[in-house]
Amino acid sequence: MSELNNIVLKILNIGKGILAADESTATMTKRLETVKVQSTAENRLLFRETLFSASGMTECIGGVILYDETIKQITSKKNKIPELISTMGSVPGIKVDTGAKVLASSPNEKITEGLDGLRERLKDYYKLGAKFTKWRGVYNISKEHPSKLSIQSNAHALARYSALVQECNMVPIVEPEVLMDGEHSAKECYEKTSEIIKKCFEELILHKVDLKGVILKPNMILAGNKCKNKISNEEVAKLTLKCLKDSVPTEVPGIAFLSGGQSEIEATENLNLINKYNDTNFIMSYSFGRALQQSALKFWSKNIKNIEGTQKVFNHRAKMNTLAAKGKWSKELEN
Ligand code: 13P
Repeated sequence: MSELNNIVLKILNIGKGILAADESTATMTKRLETVKVQSTAENRLLFRETLFSASGMTECIGGVILYDETIKQITSKKNKIPELISTMGSVPGIKVDTGAKVLASSPNEKITEGLDGLRERLKDYYKLGAKFTKWRGVYNISKEHPSKLSIQSNAHALARYSALVQECNMVPIVEPEVLMDGEHSAKECYEKTSEIIKKCFEELILHKVDLKGVILKPNMILAGNKCKNKISNEEVAKLTLKCLKDSVPTEVPGIAFLSGGQSEIEATENLNLINKYNDTNFIMSYSFGRALQQSALKFWSKNIKNIEGTQKVFNHRAKMNTLAAKGKWSKELEN
């Protein structure tokens, strides 16, 4: 087994998932503003350190995606953040794209940037302890979108990124996110997601990326948030499985879903059903940001000094999602 494949299997080992704590400072500021906490480097560290030192980390969280600011921060106990994460039995990772910018020639779409100087940045992150990385391509659905141009150019960037990351002995998370925003149906989400993922793997193969050392981070197949015809959770799970079975090469060991603006319970419930019906060899787990942190952030914002209380809220969510990653979650366990 390759070294990269071992890292994937460690991160997604038996129900473990990923904590996506890689919000950029701008995004984290928005999150903190919604709970009326000032966005300072100290507060951002305090919240994140609280989660990273929770017992749920050891039990449930196989990997943590960090942001550039956080990977360089020192904890209150004078440890480096990647060391804290490793001590908790989890694997430190880093977001390496520099954000999605307007795509020239298609002003309503985005292209993710960050390839310039990436090889050097990767070496630095590796020295800081990162063992895996993340790059997010983002697509919106409307009558004209996603365009062929956005599908092609984001897949190309994801493949160039992945090849560079593996060259530096780290595992790339390949995240093509089809946004939930809009009136589109679940069928449209299915078709576009399938086309996007297929193009990503076509490019990854062209760039000689070792698929056994990759984690795919896709969206679930959902109707748009403004669509009148919502589908049931059962249908979400079945369509998501069908889409991935059809578009992901079998060599890929693990798939870790983003939550994408679903509520915490909805994301957990859908993940649980996906695992109940999973008749593939893919590990199907989570790489949630909001759906792992929302309740904990809300609690913490009102009780900043109550570390244990915040950790309890986080531990519960992590546990629920780890049960869902084994298909063993039920609503009653939420109480
Ligand atoms: P959400 O789970 O909040 O969608 O965040 C996951 C993520 O990492 C988006 O890039």
